Amino acid sequence: METILITGGAGFIGSHLTRLFVNKYPNYKIVNLDALTYAGNLNNLKDIEQAPNYTFVKGDITDMEFVKELFAVHQFTGVLHCAAESHVDRSITDPLSFVRTNVMGTVSLLQAAKEQWKGNMEGKLFYHISTDEVYGSLGDEGFFTEETAYDPRSPYSASKASSDHFVRAYHHTYHLPVKISNCSNNYGPFHFPEKLIPLCIHNIINKKPLPIYGKGENIRDWLFVEDHVRAIDTIYHNGKIGETYNIGGHNEWTNIALVKELCRQMDQKLGRAAGESEQLITYVKDRAGHDLRYAIDATKLKEELGWMPSLQFEEGLSKTIDWYLNNSEWLANVTSGDYQKYYTSLYGA
Ligand code: NAD
Ligand code: TYD
Repeated sequence: METILITGGAGFIGSHLTRLFVNKYPNYKIVNLDALTYAGNLNNLKDIEQAPNYTFVKGDITDMEFVKELFAVHQFTGVLHCAAESHVDRSITDPLSFVRTNVMGTVSLLQAAKEQWKGNMEGKLFYHISTDEVYGSLGDEGFFTEETAYDPRSPYSASKASSDHFVRAYHHTYHLPVKISNCSNNYGPFHFPEKLIPLCIHNIINKKPLPIYGKGENIRDWLFVEDHVRAIDTIYHNGKIGETYNIGGHNEWTNIALVKELCRQMDQKLGRAAGESEQLITYVKDRAGHDLRYAIDATKLKEELGWMPSLQFEEGLSKTIDWYLNNSEWLANVTSGDYQKYYTSLYGA
């Protein structure tokens, strides 16, 4: 019988991960610990909130006494640690909240796990969900492998790199059973519209400018979120203790090509004239320290554990757009209030 703590389960990736584990493993008890920051939304989990094997707990991972108490009450056998501050632009304006949540929060969970599992690490697992951004920025060629040296360049990636280091340090020093995966950019339903794809979908719907940083030539390697959480499931159950796995879709797009593809598909779906939404593209000031290119080599995951992405990008994008068009209430809900203030501070009206 497993009792798993998922942190950040009300966020984008965390909600897909929680749904997968609750539905696929009815014999596991799943406890979702989330502080419900601006990025956390219980509407993301409506379809499973009544499931008998699911419990939601509102709380902050940086509150170590509270986290230790939660471990004592639930006797967790595993942790899937997803909670984080996740947006690079916010990390540029407020780096300290990234240190607090991503570094201090991770160490607080590690400490609670170490104390609870002391003397009996058998069958336990602390899994850290991390990002490819810890590896820094690539030039035109090459890929990030598990051996690539860490070279984080934004406050966000520096905080995630630091948390990865702490996870490994707890493994080496205290023999805590850990796994880490570093994934490329995700997209899909429930993605908060501060990130490129949902922000552009939202703006295309509302005929608002599509802000492209710099020349739009930066490259990201996009993976459908359900493929990511399937990889996490595979690694959680079959990966080796102490190991790191890179997850990526071999799916590189420049930002400008991606946004044009979004415009093309949305013009069709919305019955607009071809080329209409492209008129909304607006080049804006570049992001400070903007990483040029991320690209993952996921050979280890494929060869050791047999994982492969399931969706072609155009198909995944189409599914994602359809989800946003069919869930206008969700979108209206998350774009009201605080998010509107944040958006105005970054892009003006
Ligand atoms: P998100 O911002 O959508 O969600 C983060 C969740 O964590 C929210 O529900 C929020 O309420 C919760 N949270 C934040 N601070 C907390 C705290 N102090 N205590 C408890 N809960 C807190 O993030 P996401 O995009 O779903 O990313 C999830 C994880 O995956 C992060 O660790 C991120 O670094 C990693 N990751 C994300 C991507 C991506 O493309 N989004 C890619 C690779 C890795
Ligand atoms: P984002 O979705 O924020 O993810 P990350 O920075 O973690 O890769 O951004 C993806 C890319 O899109 C990145 O190169 C920055 C760029 N971008 C824009 O050009 N305009 C925008 O409004 C946003 C949010 C991002």
